[in-house]
Amino acid sequence: MANNTGSAADSHEIILVLDFGGQYNQLIARRVRENHVYCEVHPHTMPLDKIRAMAPKGIILTGGPNSVYAPDAATAPAELFELGIPVLGICYGSQLMAHVLGGKVETAPTSEYGRTEVTINDAGQRSKLFEGVSAKTICWMSHTDYISAVPDGFTITAETPVCPVAAMEDASRQLYATQFHPEVMHTVEGKTMLKNFVFAVCGCAGDWHMGSFVERTIRELRAKIGTGKALCALSGGVDSSVAAVILSKAIGKQLTCVFVDHGLLRKDEGDQVEAVFGPDGPYDVNFIRINAKDRFYAKLKGVTEPEQKRKIIGEEFIRVFEDVAKKIGKVDYLVQGTIYPDVIESGLGKSAVIKSHHNVGGLPDFVDFKEIVEPLRLLFKDEVRACGRELGIPEYLVSRQPFPGPGLGIRIIGEITEEKVKIVQEADAIYREEVEKAGAQKNLGQYFAALTNMRSVGVMGDGRTYDYAIALRAVMTSDFMTAESAQLPWDVLQRVTTRIVNEVKGVNRVLYDCTGKPPATIEFE
Ligand code: XMP
Repeated sequence: MANNTGSAADSHEIILVLDFGGQYNQLIARRVRENHVYCEVHPHTMPLDKIRAMAPKGIILTGGPNSVYAPDAATAPAELFELGIPVLGICYGSQLMAHVLGGKVETAPTSEYGRTEVTINDAGQRSKLFEGVSAKTICWMSHTDYISAVPDGFTITAETPVCPVAAMEDASRQLYATQFHPEVMHTVEGKTMLKNFVFAVCGCAGDWHMGSFVERTIRELRAKIGTGKALCALSGGVDSSVAAVILSKAIGKQLTCVFVDHGLLRKDEGDQVEAVFGPDGPYDVNFIRINAKDRFYAKLKGVTEPEQKRKIIGEEFIRVFEDVAKKIGKVDYLVQGTIYPDVIESGLGKSAVIKSHHNVGGLPDFVDFKEIVEPLRLLFKDEVRACGRELGIPEYLVSRQPFPGPGLGIRIIGEITEEKVKIVQEADAIYREEVEKAGAQKNLGQYFAALTNMRSVGVMGDGRTYDYAIALRAVMTSDFMTAESAQLPWDVLQRVTTRIVNEVKGVNRVLYDCTGKPPATIEFE
């Protein structure tokens, strides 16, 4: 099975992020791309000849969980620093740079975590990395080791009271390092620092734009698919909708969109998808809707483990498509709306796998198509939306909150039954309706109801009840990698609670989830 990764790089400029397993690696790539410079994350084991062939304008080494002295520590060859390509090491990446080039890394007498005031060294010439940055600036630290001696040729460009080398560089070799994380929001002037690296140090032009991405992708899809037929796995969510439209622009009626209603969608969602992509909608595509809920429920009977649910749902999707494909005749390509965070979170490099997303992690080994086409595989969520706008997709669809591929399957804790699906659908519909009515959705990245597996005693009328608890979740996030629980107005929550317990049979309690990500995730499973 081959994966079409497409090519998102429209200019020759690319910044390469080498992933050492830190938590913020995707953020680095997003921050770079915000400057209209294309950026890719690759495992730190990427061979040097591949790096040379890619010819990046700059390389960023990410943070990571290890110490450079750990027996299985991820490392980098000294030649990486001799390619003549600017390198920025962040946190572990900075320590690795120091270690490999002959400096000294030690366990710090005092660990630093969180917001920390960093003093920029203004004694000599100001570092290019810190052009326009305040002399004292708040940065995000997270380290137990630190650089205690810089390698030959390096100067110290920033410090904190307990970290003598908060930043160092050898400008003549274009090597830069920060102990803190410029990519996270808490580093107040971090965006400026990364912008400086990309433009002032690496000399990028910043000419990567969504318009050219769309044009190029359409061109590439046409060239690849030719007169072949493609099937698009349409879920009605933002990602697969954008994937479907970009494919329809590329190959028109050679594309058949297959919408599998797995019985785990939000209330009425199936009909809404049909209204947009079906024969009465604005797009010129073949559209097939399959109501496959019985098939999915049967496969999920008795299954409680989240990853197993994901894999079953993902696999069943593929099987349904295969059946459809057989009926349609020969189909060469299967289109999926996989996006970059799915790719990275599903196990690129050494980042810990938190969840496998069904459209990547759950794909069976044998797929009866010539190739999987994933035109959005290299885009972040906000870039997918920008791509959708570029394609003229209506705003209500483009700005729709994300909905996971396994749908309500991962919003029902424990075993999935038809009764539970109905409960969570009804509760979720009430919640969304009331939140929207109050205009409280504006700053929310995602909000939904989930069904806990907890039943508890209640009293309704004069009788005892023993029913389920619904959990409400609302998070503020722009990147979906970190999120804060939203403070919804109490009167809205009360209205939602009253309506849910009154209108949804089988529920006698409503809980609100106050947890951020981390430590929780956005979805419940
Ligand atoms: P978590 O729960 O990992 O979610 O904080 C981050 C974002 O990813 C979505 N999500 C999924 N999307 N398949 C998907 O297509 C999945 O298995 C899956 N799990 C989580 C989630 O809705 C949120 O937007």
